[in-house]
Amino acid sequence: MSEVRVRNLSLAYGTAKALDDVSLNFPDGQLFGLLGPSGSGKTTLLRSIAGLVYADHGSITIGGESVERVPVEKREIGMMFQSYALFPNMSVADNIGFGLKVRHLDKADIARRVGEALELVHLEGLGSRRPHQLSGGQRQRVALARAIVTRPRVLLLDEPLSALDKALRSEMQVELRRIQREVGITTIFVTHDQEEALTLSDRIGILRGGRLVRSGPPKELYHAPQDRFTASFLGEANFFSGRPEQAGLRLAGGGLLPWPGELAPRVTVLAVRPEEMTILPAASPPPPGACAIQGVLDGISFSGPTAICRIAFEGRQVSVLLKNSELDIIPASGPVTVCWPAARSMPILEGTEP
Ligand SMILES: Nc1ncnc2c1ncn2[C@@H]1O[C@H](COP(=O)(O)OP(=O)(O)OP(=O)(O)O)[C@@H](O)[C@H]1O
Ligand SMILES: [Mg+2]
Repeated sequence: MSEVRVRNLSLAYGTAKALDDVSLNFPDGQLFGLLGPSGSGKTTLLRSIAGLVYADHGSITIGGESVERVPVEKREIGMMFQSYALFPNMSVADNIGFGLKVRHLDKADIARRVGEALELVHLEGLGSRRPHQLSGGQRQRVALARAIVTRPRVLLLDEPLSALDKALRSEMQVELRRIQREVGITTIFVTHDQEEALTLSDRIGILRGGRLVRSGPPKELYHAPQDRFTASFLGEANFFSGRPEQAGLRLAGGGLLPWPGELAPRVTVLAVRPEEMTILPAASPPPPGACAIQGVLDGISFSGPTAICRIAFEGRQVSVLLKNSELDIIPASGPVTVCWPAARSMPILEGTEP
């Protein structure tokens, strides 16, 4: 078992808190996506787990054992950091085998394990090349093979795909997930890219200003974010503020957004994902029980398979994501009704505003 547990971890550089009382579990064998804006403490958290920096407070355990007194080389961690560097003068095979050589494995063992690692990352036959003779994606695979060849208990990946273009990146995402599943290694993966985190992760944690905002399975965080930051960081959201009533949320303009069941008194904001909403011509009645608002369509931007419609509503803008085929049945501009199933509104708890 190699679950990583972090408890009440705090670390300050001078007066700046890079980590502020972070507690998180990284379950055994799972891929955990760590997200957050630049400077939110993601790298610092990985470096603390690796033993490259030491926290001021708190504890870290791997597989139930405290690693406080365990130096970095004994923590059995594979790392691939933001600026991973391959040794330019060594072959691909020597790059991958380097960690085994410093552990004094014999040559035959090294050759066998490097061969297996090359196969795992689909680079069979390229062992004798130099890094400069590889594509960006291939170099990334070498770095990944180098991180896992020592059979670490935990794999820490800090933005491993950030240098790649979109197509290569999606390809490597699939590869990374495959390799992680095959090896079954507890993996913590840092990314700026929320879509990447949603696609790859078994669980996600969101950091902000050194604090953990929320953690959980991707679907739960996306569909029930509970706080404004998580709602807008993981995708797009429209926010509606008002006064909670028994039947729903009373908007400032007088309209009611019905809520199935009783809305908690603390909920003064409902968030709605643009893809949950549809647009009807202004005169058509919304389905019974649906949330509906009357606004003015003032712009449509196409993005290939879908389009974002911008609707002016009570002095602000609401975004609605439509399939291109849905555009045919709405006016190109002017008054419209925006509606969505009441159960698709996501209650945001008060006191969690940014
Ligand atoms: N060695 C250091 N000395 C002083 N401050 C540091 C040091 N390393 C990080 N920090 C600060 O700690 C905070 C957290 O940094 P960290 O590198 O963990 O952020 P991050 O979430 O990884 O950001 P990014 O997404 O840009 O990589 C930042 O405010 C950063 O400026
Ligand atoms: Mg970082």
